[in-house]
Parts: sequence; structure tokens; C-alpha cells
Amino acid sequence: MEKKSKSGSFTGQLGFVLAAAGSAVGVGNIWRFPYLAAKDGGGLFLIIYLVLVLTFGFTLLTSDITIGRKTGKSAIGAYTEMNPKWKFLGILTFFVPVVIMTYYAVIGGWITKYMVSFVTGQGRAAAADGYFSSFISDPVQSVIYAVIPMVITAVIIYRGVENGIEACSKFMMPVLLVLIVFIAVYAMFIHHDGRTGLQGFMVYITPNVEGLTVKKFMAVLLDAMSQLFFSLSVSMGIMITYGSYVKKDVDLNKAVSQIEIFDTGVALLAGMAIIPSVFVFSGLDGMNKGPGLMFISLPKVFASMGVIGNVVGAAFFIMAVFATLTSCISVLEAITANCMEVFHTQRHRTTLALGVIYTIASVVIALGYSAFYCEIPLPNGTVGQLLDLMDYISNSVMMPFISLLSTILIGWIVRPKWIIDEVESSGVRFHRKQLYIVMVKFVCPVIMVMLFLQSTGLLAKL
Ligand code: PFF
Repeated sequence: MEKKSKSGSFTGQLGFVLAAAGSAVGVGNIWRFPYLAAKDGGGLFLIIYLVLVLTFGFTLLTSDITIGRKTGKSAIGAYTEMNPKWKFLGILTFFVPVVIMTYYAVIGGWITKYMVSFVTGQGRAAAADGYFSSFISDPVQSVIYAVIPMVITAVIIYRGVENGIEACSKFMMPVLLVLIVFIAVYAMFIHHDGRTGLQGFMVYITPNVEGLTVKKFMAVLLDAMSQLFFSLSVSMGIMITYGSYVKKDVDLNKAVSQIEIFDTGVALLAGMAIIPSVFVFSGLDGMNKGPGLMFISLPKVFASMGVIGNVVGAAFFIMAVFATLTSCISVLEAITANCMEVFHTQRHRTTLALGVIYTIASVVIALGYSAFYCEIPLPNGTVGQLLDLMDYISNSVMMPFISLLSTILIGWIVRPKWIIDEVESSGVRFHRKQLYIVMVKFVCPVIMVMLFLQSTGLLAKL
């Protein structure tokens, strides 16, 4: 009884799948996936990514959601229940959303800024050179725009699982899907300077294996793998928390497949929307902009489309704001749920306290491009600002390490049967049982070590 009023639950499979897909679909799908696909050989990246989703993605997502449902707890309590000696893993996992939350609303603020520009008909201004850099380095604007998504997120979490998270996911996710399909289809029909959207689409899906070496293939593989973690929101305790709100009669086989399809589908559609558009208006060169693709290349593409560009641009950034908000919500919920369990506090007070703490944190990170500007050398050879440092700690260091430990815990200590029994407890067969066992015991641990060594820059030193 106490537990129920503390955490609540999703009303059913649909509510859960949309909320989990809401967490999974975010800037990773819309911005990172297309630029990695453009960089890593188009169709080659797509094939590798699809194989990884069906193997690693399936294994890690099933593990997280099942751990949550079986224990009814968030990361700290859940890992402690699995094995008290592994409480440290719960604490480590808890710190991933703690770190991510410091900067996710800041990125949400950037996207909100572009949405406002396009919705108010200022798309041309947003496409001007230097717009992005002058915005993020303006201390007032960047702070205001970081605080907006942060406050909206806190309000939704304050309203609870059913009335807050589920209700907003049920509205935002279908709208997001309609918008991305509209933009992807539209992108097929554009043409400019003799280039067509369809040609751009072919560049996107054709595997480019020119000059492919084993080393390059490994680099693509590792890019796809780290993208997969980030995209599915696994190994950060988020899906454990969401899993703890799933009722016992929900078929986890189906739920996992639906989340995988939703997440991968939106990533593929985002690539279909972005790569042909950039190809048509800027040619192949425009695609090698890396992370600047979303905030620098794309607004220029929308501006070149003329009047319709404002409509397509507005649709795109509204869609991106929804994607970011539903992810931001899941990050704050994971932190809130853990705090409620550890400190035995109620949702409202916990959310208020965390809302204040993270508003301050978001302001500090947003000021990382102005008042607190610094150049921090990262172990992987790049130089970044505060936001990049936080992103590096959470995604490149903590996530692969946590996945490694959690697969060892499941594969060799509590044993896969612990997970399988829970999946089958709703009266269904675990469809990919053998695959799960092989992946969790053998394949995942080995690959996680490689990923950890690569993303921390240690692989290059070996
Ligand atoms: N899965 C989200 C995306 O692909 O953008 C990102 C994300 C959400 C990362 C939640 C981390 C997180 F805690």
C-alpha cells in the first residue's frame, strides 16, 4: 500500500510503452543518429545499428525493465535486492541521471529557442551565420531558455506517474510520430540545383564501404554501440524505474519489441528527414558538419525552402521539443524515484527540492558558454565545455561500465533465470530466451569492456 501511493503505476501496456518510448526517443534519435549515419557510411551504419538493436538493445532493455518490474524498485533498491553486495552498482547507476540532468534541459532550451524562432516566423534569422553561437554565449537568453524546459519537466514529475508522465507521453508521442512522418515524406519530394530528395535518400541507405578497413569498421561498430545505449536510455536506471511502474499482467516481450521499434523507427525517419534535405541544399559537404547538423545546417536548409520552410522548420522543432521533454522527464523521474525510496520522502517535496537543485545546475551549465566558459581537455582527445564534460562522464565512462557490471551480475551471479522467470510470470513464453542468455553471459561483457576502453581513450593507449 505504502509503495503504491509512493510511486504509482502506468495504467497499462500502451501507457508504459509510450512513456518508455518517450524516454528513448530524444535528441539522440533526431540529431545524433542522422549525423552518425552520414559520417559512418550510410547504409553500413544502418545495418550495423539494426543488428545491434536486435541483440544488445534487446538484452539491455529487457534486463532493465524486468529488474524494475520484479523488484518494484528503482536502481539503488533494485540492485540491493538482487544482491546486497551489489548495492554499489545501484548507487553508480543512480548517478548517471544525476549527471545527465545537469545538461539535458540546457539542450532542451536550445531546441526550444529554435522552435520559438520558426513558430514566430523568424526562421531566416535562425539560419544566419553565428546565430547559434551568439545565442549560447548570451548569458541571459541561454539561461532563460534552459530554465523553461527544466520547470516544465519538474511540473510534470510533480503530477505523478499517471497524471504527469503517462498523460503527457500519450499526447506528445503520437504527435511526434505524425510530424516526423510528414517531414520525412516531404523530404523525399524536394529538389534544388539538380539534386533531389530521392537521391539524398539513396545516399542515406546505400552502404558505403569504400576504403573500409578493419579499424574503420571497428570505429563504426563502436559509434553504433554507444549510440544504442544513449538512444534506448539503458544502463542509467531510467528503464528500471519505469519498469517498476509496470503492472504484472503486461507482456514484457511485446513491450520491449514495441519500444525498440518506436525508438529505431523514429531514428530512421529522422535520418530520412534530415539527410536528403541537407544533401539537396548543401550537397555531400553539408552532411559532414557533425553535431552542428541540427543547429547550423538544418535551419539553413529550412530557410532555403522559402515560405514552406517556416512550416517544415516549425514542425521539426516542435517535434524535437516533444522528444526532448519526454526524455528529460524520464531522467528527472529516475532521480526522484530513487530519492523517494532512499529518503522515504513524498513525491511533491522531493520534486520541489530537485526542481530547485536542477534549475541551479542547468543555469551553471548554460553559463558554460559565457560566464563560466572553460576549455576542458577530455581523455578521448577532444576539448569541451562544462556540458561536454558532463556528457562525457555519463555517456562515455559510466554507461558502458554499468552495462558491463550489470550483465556480469545477471549472467553470472543472480543468473539469467532470475530475469526469464519474471518475463514468463505473465503467462507468456520468453521468445528470445536463448539469445538473451548468450548475450548477457558472454557477448555483452566482452563488448562492454571494448567500448569502455575505446570511449575513455584507453584502447588507443594499449
Ligand atoms: N534516449 C534519449 C535520446 O536518444 O535522446 C536520451 C536520453 C534520455 C539519455 C534519457 C539519457 C537519458 F537519461
